[in-house]
Amino acid sequence: MRMKIPFGTISVTEKSKKIIAGLLESNRLSSGKYVREFEKRFAIHVGTKEAIAVSSGTDAVALALAVLYEFGAKRGDEIIVPALSFPATGNAVLQAGFTPSFVDIDRKTLNIDPLKIEDVITEKTKAILPVHLMGKPADMDIINDIAKKYNLYLLEDAAEAHGAVYRGRNVGTLGDMAAYSLYIAHIITTVEGGIVTTDNSDFAEILRSLRSHGRACKCESCVLNTASAYCTKRFKYDTDIRFVFERIGFSAKMNELEAAIGIGNLDLYDEILQKRRENLYYLLEEFKKFHSYLSTIEKEPYEEIGPHALPMIVQEEAKFTRDQLVNGLEKKGIDTRTLFSSMPTQCPGFNFLGYKEGDFPNAEYIGNNGIHIGVHQDIDRKGCDYIIDAVEEFLLKD
Ligand SMILES: Cc1ncc(COP(=O)(O)O)c(C=O)c1O
Repeated sequence: MRMKIPFGTISVTEKSKKIIAGLLESNRLSSGKYVREFEKRFAIHVGTKEAIAVSSGTDAVALALAVLYEFGAKRGDEIIVPALSFPATGNAVLQAGFTPSFVDIDRKTLNIDPLKIEDVITEKTKAILPVHLMGKPADMDIINDIAKKYNLYLLEDAAEAHGAVYRGRNVGTLGDMAAYSLYIAHIITTVEGGIVTTDNSDFAEILRSLRSHGRACKCESCVLNTASAYCTKRFKYDTDIRFVFERIGFSAKMNELEAAIGIGNLDLYDEILQKRRENLYYLLEEFKKFHSYLSTIEKEPYEEIGPHALPMIVQEEAKFTRDQLVNGLEKKGIDTRTLFSSMPTQCPGFNFLGYKEGDFPNAEYIGNNGIHIGVHQDIDRKGCDYIIDAVEEFLLKD
């Protein structure tokens, strides 16, 4: 029987619907108490002191980077990123006013090759921004050692890594700040949205200002927009603090409707994570038999992968192309997405940086030969078996 395996799904709880109905009734929709509740719960869930909600994962990366201007960074300074990621990682570096320094990836992990990081460090390097691609934690011990050795900030792009654990510690707590996407394809979603986690309350305060145009008004009560009548700091500067703009800001707030969806997702988090993880680990195990033609990532004993999606990479030995595989799976009703591409050499938007095809062979290989499919909570064991059978059938045919 033909099944449909969509790439993503969204769980909207009854509680979320109730909150949203109340919000619509009240007309009080922009960032407020539900955003704050979502932030508090997200911080507890990751294990950081602070979480600052913004309007996308891209904004989360860009704002986290922009914080560094207040800690010695200059516009145009360099941020080290893997060549392979969703282009949002590179876009955010440029949007924040920095220059990305790309490093090739390790084809086995899909993550930045830590042994190549030191090659690109210059006097202008300010931070390393590893991406935990497909929820697989980057090699944070080595990366952290390099960051310490060169006095660099370490920021995690954890957009795809909700629930990932590295050597007993949660992803999202492994650097100075971490940026998550809450877009609909991700494990916890607010439909559109992002969030930065950090233990540093100075960073958190700057982030609250950055997301709201760089306002001086960034303490919790003002963030809730409840302070106007009685805030003791409001006229501290002889003028209304809400209209003092201390830094170049962004317009990147989360709204209450999004937070309401996110609160419902946090209620379901353990269930969603367990379902997705069961699916991913089952598929990873079963896919071992396809290894010589179709590889995927491996789970190491010291980690838990954030079950974002299942990557598949067509190997050199295969007698079929990535497009043929995509066609084969799509015909069976299985949604596919490419496994991104080498930002500097395969995404035309980055051409102006002057890299050339061949500079990042591993990232480019994935860009030409990788896909990923969903492992979400609405796929059951029957769905997983259907995926395995479809791949097996395709491989036997070709
Ligand atoms: C690795 C990575 N970084 C950043 C982002 C940007 O997130 P958003 O789409 O919420 O802006 C994504 C999006 O999925 C991503 O996969």
